[in-house]
Amino acid sequence: MALLNGGLNLPSTKPAILHRKPVSSSVSRPAFLRISAVIDPKNESPKPKWSPETWKTKTALQQPEYPDQKELNKVLKTIGTYPPIVFAGEARLLEERLGQAAKGEAFLLQGGDCAESFKEFNADNIRDTFRIILQMGAVLMFGGQVPVIKVGRMAGQFAKPRSDSFEERDGVKLPSYRGDNINGDAFDAKSRIPDPQRMVSAYSQSAATLNLLRAFATGGYAAMQRVTQWNLDFAEHSEQGDRYRELANRVDEALGFMHAAGLTLDHPIMQTTGFWTSHECLLLPYEQSLTRLDSTSGLYYDCSAHMVWVGERTRQLDGAHVEFLRGISNPLGIKVSNKMDPVELVKLIEILNPENKPGRITIITRMGAENMRVKLPHLIRAVRRAGQIVTWVSDPMHGNTIKAPCGLKTRPFDSILAEVRAFFDVHDQEGSHPGGIHLEMTGQNVTECIGGSRTVTFDDLGSRYHTHCDPRLNASQPSSSRNGSERDGSSPNKLLLSSNPES
Ligand code: PEP
Ligand code: CO
Repeated sequence: MALLNGGLNLPSTKPAILHRKPVSSSVSRPAFLRISAVIDPKNESPKPKWSPETWKTKTALQQPEYPDQKELNKVLKTIGTYPPIVFAGEARLLEERLGQAAKGEAFLLQGGDCAESFKEFNADNIRDTFRIILQMGAVLMFGGQVPVIKVGRMAGQFAKPRSDSFEERDGVKLPSYRGDNINGDAFDAKSRIPDPQRMVSAYSQSAATLNLLRAFATGGYAAMQRVTQWNLDFAEHSEQGDRYRELANRVDEALGFMHAAGLTLDHPIMQTTGFWTSHECLLLPYEQSLTRLDSTSGLYYDCSAHMVWVGERTRQLDGAHVEFLRGISNPLGIKVSNKMDPVELVKLIEILNPENKPGRITIITRMGAENMRVKLPHLIRAVRRAGQIVTWVSDPMHGNTIKAPCGLKTRPFDSILAEVRAFFDVHDQEGSHPGGIHLEMTGQNVTECIGGSRTVTFDDLGSRYHTHCDPRLNASQPSSSRNGSERDGSSPNKLLLSSNPES
């Protein structure tokens, strides 16, 4: 019963104090304003008919070519009979929360693996990623004084878009690896053949992962006093670890105060947490097979995750991915690079959110710090002019990928920080709300991004480089507070940006 009601999540908590700058009135528009009227009053053509398979009438980029169509259809039919992985009510609750983030009354923390893998599927990995998200969430909530919406890139983040369809090594050319739900990453011809059975394994792994996440979120593991006591072994004896402990002590003091005031630690709000899942909506046959009509609302939901996003490479206005996404009612993310034109962004939002529902659209910008300072203001202004309500989020990872001399992909920690800083600065200038952060990170002690307080160098990359796709921040890199003793309630940015004293 509790689960059907979105039992993973807590009732909405309004922040007691909002240390926010007033935002110009042009930003706050009435909810559910029909924006097509704002864009072009004469052009109100009726919406073309949608069904879970109308995407097939459009061009679908980044899809595998399965050699055996019969087997593919059999697998999809089977998955179509499986229970949904998430419930529509949970996705609606997330949408509501994201609507708060659009207004600056909450902050989204979205993070996890670039790509989940079958090989690294175990309870410790799930726990460690969950734990680092919770720790970051506590830090951000304490510093920003707003609720933090925790969303994992977990329980379904398998399919990867590739810039090149082929990979060449020592004169041998093979189809690229596209994620564990499509083909294998070993560099041999057999592994690279798309295998539909992998979708069944991805479904099972997603369901089992979410099962454990639900247990962690509601079964006592996420209790507030535990979060402040956790410590990551390898962050111990580091400046980072000391800062975390200092902050944890202050959270403990605050908990003591609340306890004295009557909010005891056994209260449900102190014992459980809200936690949602998300992934890139890339492999359309799989997403379609998990799309179900919700009997409560009469709306379609893609029940593979609470939130799905469209990637930078598949967000064409007339493409299959946008066609699929416009008909499902989950909250949606849109990845946006410096290549996005403001007019195109407004059109895309109009297609995906014609009712202008707050929380429906999260714009995840990923363009590098310099581009961000130049381009983001134009995107913000265009969206505002169109009266569109969106949640602005920074993905400081995908615009900062470089190749190390050894050939491995990496990301400099300083560039990541610079992009986050640019994101907050631009929103400050524009009087808009920085609504969250989207990170590729892991609870494991990997060496994939260079820099950070326990400096990882180019030479260290090879030692623990385990990612199946893009380089992730390790648990000591994402966030901690240098200024633990100077609480600045203005926004979570001070906390995100203060983690590198040198920068
Ligand atoms: C990703 O988030 O892993 C990804 C591929 O992002 P983008 O579409 O922004 O490149
Ligand atoms: Co990635």
